[in-house]
Amino acid sequence: MTETAPAPVAASMPRIGDPAPAFRASTTQGEISFPEDYRGRWVVFFSHPADFTPVCTTEFMTFATLQEKFEQLNTALVGLSVDGLYSHIAWLRTIKDRITFRDMSDVEVTFPLIDDITMAVAKAYGMIMPGEDSTKAVRAVFIIDPKGIIRTIIYYPLSVGRNFDELLRALTALQTADAFSVATPADWRPGEPVIVPPAGSCGVAKDRMEGEEEGLSCVDWFFCTKELPASDIEAALQAS
Ligand code: BEZ
Repeated sequence: MTETAPAPVAASMPRIGDPAPAFRASTTQGEISFPEDYRGRWVVFFSHPADFTPVCTTEFMTFATLQEKFEQLNTALVGLSVDGLYSHIAWLRTIKDRITFRDMSDVEVTFPLIDDITMAVAKAYGMIMPGEDSTKAVRAVFIIDPKGIIRTIIYYPLSVGRNFDELLRALTALQTADAFSVATPADWRPGEPVIVPPAGSCGVAKDRMEGEEEGLSCVDWFFCTKELPASDIEAALQAS
């Protein structure tokens, strides 16, 4: 008789469009109530596997170095790992006092790092993937909007450090989509054409293909783009 492995138990996790699960937690910056304390701001809420590990150290130094860029996008950073508060404090002190990575040194992490030794928060956000590790969070990223709604979820495994260009690009694309009611094509960067909502009627489709809608450039009736200068995006996102 052949033995079959037990089917994995499906874990519940929040999805894009869901309200961010609420919690209270101790962090390296004091107690937080999430997401209430961040209403009116975007949040990049991310998990990492463990303190005093090399990939995580490079990621924390990079997040801390880019914090100002996230703040310019009205975005707060909040980190989490399944470690206790004293371990977090000791690790962040070590990073500041002893670690150099690329051109970064003397890096102070001033955004909150959540103590989640019970895994309560990590489990509520689906950050524990037992097939990868049952006691460490994977590298999850949740982008949460100013109303507390999850707008993007990105996961990386334990062994792969995140791409920070992509985190900033995705956040900028999301905010641009909201501010201008457009979508953004593959690999979009500010300053490149954006995609306008598809034609909702045969008449609009015909007009677009006949060049009747000013400012649009149509590849086909369902695929039209328009210019959106980077300066317009910068002005709109600064004002939001
Ligand atoms: C790291 O951050 O270096 C790491 C953490 C857990 C597993 C593998 C690598």
